[in-house]
Amino acid sequence: MHFIPEALDNYVVNHSENEPELLQQLTRETYQKILQPRMLSGHYQGRLLSMISKLVNPKNILEIGTYTGYSALCLAEGMQDSGVLHTIDVNEELVDFQRKYFDKSDYGQRIFQHLGDALQIIPELDATFDLVFIDADKENYSNYFNMIIDKLNVGGIILSDNVLWSGKVIEELKADDTSTKALLEYNTLLKEDTRVETVMLPIRDGLTISRKL
Ligand SMILES: C[S@@+](CC[C@H](N)C(=O)[O-])C[C@H]1O[C@@H](n2cnc3c(N)ncnc32)[C@H](O)[C@@H]1O
Repeated sequence: MHFIPEALDNYVVNHSENEPELLQQLTRETYQKILQPRMLSGHYQGRLLSMISKLVNPKNILEIGTYTGYSALCLAEGMQDSGVLHTIDVNEELVDFQRKYFDKSDYGQRIFQHLGDALQIIPELDATFDLVFIDADKENYSNYFNMIIDKLNVGGIILSDNVLWSGKVIEELKADDTSTKALLEYNTLLKEDTRVETVMLPIRDGLTISRKL
């Protein structure tokens, strides 16, 4: 989704960091072999995730929704040398694909894949986090927030993707549209929860940054 004219958007992308070669390869193979390749974060958002991670310089990162591993590799670029990244996805068909690219990167040994429903896996993770990226099923965003807030260190950051849901958050809500309903509730929760301060960015499909107080 483009919030600014396409020509200006191209200018923005062209004056931001280039996409690393490994991520270009990952994108090509995702588009060739995997269903719904548009789910991948992509060049511009990926460079933003990388930049945020470098600014936060997290020790431990949690990602909910790995898909083919694009955003995990972007977030890993900013983690401390002793840091680790845990990433969760319910789709077992993606595990080997993810591992292939994680192992081609500098971070393979420090990226831990968890296969299964994030609602089951998050409570089992015995760690605290400095950076969390929520990018899985929209219906559970509020549940994920409630599960991770006590595992997030003070000053830690939650990034939430797709919070504008192609603009549906300001359209009339259809009775069967559970994703938009869940995102409306989630966006209100982030705005009102006094444990975090939140800024929503109109980037791509909407990306919210929340910082734990
Ligand atoms: C939008 S994609 C993630 C894209 C990835 N973060 C990126 O930017 O490249 C969403 C992923 O969430 C996964 N997912 C959906 N529901 C889930 C659940 N309950 N638990 C774990 N993963 C889930 C899907 O299998 C899918 O791969």
